[in-house]
Amino acid sequence: MFEVKNLCMIYDPDTDEKMYALKGLDLTLPDKGLIGIIGPSGSGKSTLMYCLSTLKQPTEGSIIYNGTELTGISMPEKERVRREEFGFIFQKHYLVPYMGAVDNVIVAGDQKSRGLERKAEELLLDLGIKEKEFGKKPARLSGGQCQRVAIARAMMNDPRVIFADEPTASLDHDNAFHVMDVLKKYSEERLVLVVTHDKSILKNSDRIIEMWDGEIGTPENGADK
Ligand SMILES: Nc1ncnc2c1ncn2[C@@H]1O[C@H](COP(=O)(O)OP(=O)(O)OP(=O)(O)O)[C@@H](O)[C@H]1O
Ligand SMILES: [Mg+2]
Repeated sequence: MFEVKNLCMIYDPDTDEKMYALKGLDLTLPDKGLIGIIGPSGSGKSTLMYCLSTLKQPTEGSIIYNGTELTGISMPEKERVRREEFGFIFQKHYLVPYMGAVDNVIVAGDQKSRGLERKAEELLLDLGIKEKEFGKKPARLSGGQCQRVAIARAMMNDPRVIFADEPTASLDHDNAFHVMDVLKKYSEERLVLVVTHDKSILKNSDRIIEMWDGEIGTPENGADK
């Protein structure tokens, strides 16, 4: 699904000391599966996700997504790919403050209809959000509940790829595992990329990519798994 070659990202190219956030990364990702991305803070995990999902333009290199060179397409075309094919879960949930839980999930849907409402409710139930929370605005939900609403929102359009950056950071262990089970199930048909500091939640992943200082692999093994 993704074919990445020589991906480089320099955040401040004009300064004397060029800071490479990604240093010529090569990577191939399949059509489906749960892929974990781990590595120390500052190793480039978020930058890699932003580049793959077109939220950031890399300094150099190629990202081929289903035959399309993502670094070469126009802004409207990037927006279309993001809207129709990608789902996003960030560490912060970015819910709409004046909307209830169900409406926050439907926001991602193309238009409001009974069918969409039912689907949003099913997703929320799957993620352990009870019916009595459905109408609550984010300020009246816990941090973990907000995060699960954001996860339902990311799944609402059946994206081909879900990009999740620390999706379980605000959850306790049981809820983190529960959310990972839901993402694992989704990954049986689609691709799910999960950045995390907590390796234990990746026990069911199909592959773990270790990042180290802008590269894949660790100083010890120097290799991708
Ligand atoms: N907007 C930015 N401007 C300048 N430098 C940045 C920017 N974003 C990230 N960097 C730098 O790029 C490097 C990689 O950052 P990135 O956010 O990708 O790391 P990360 O692995 O996601 O870290 P964390 O686990 O803390 O989220 C870091 O050295 C960081 O300081
Ligand atoms: Mg990060």
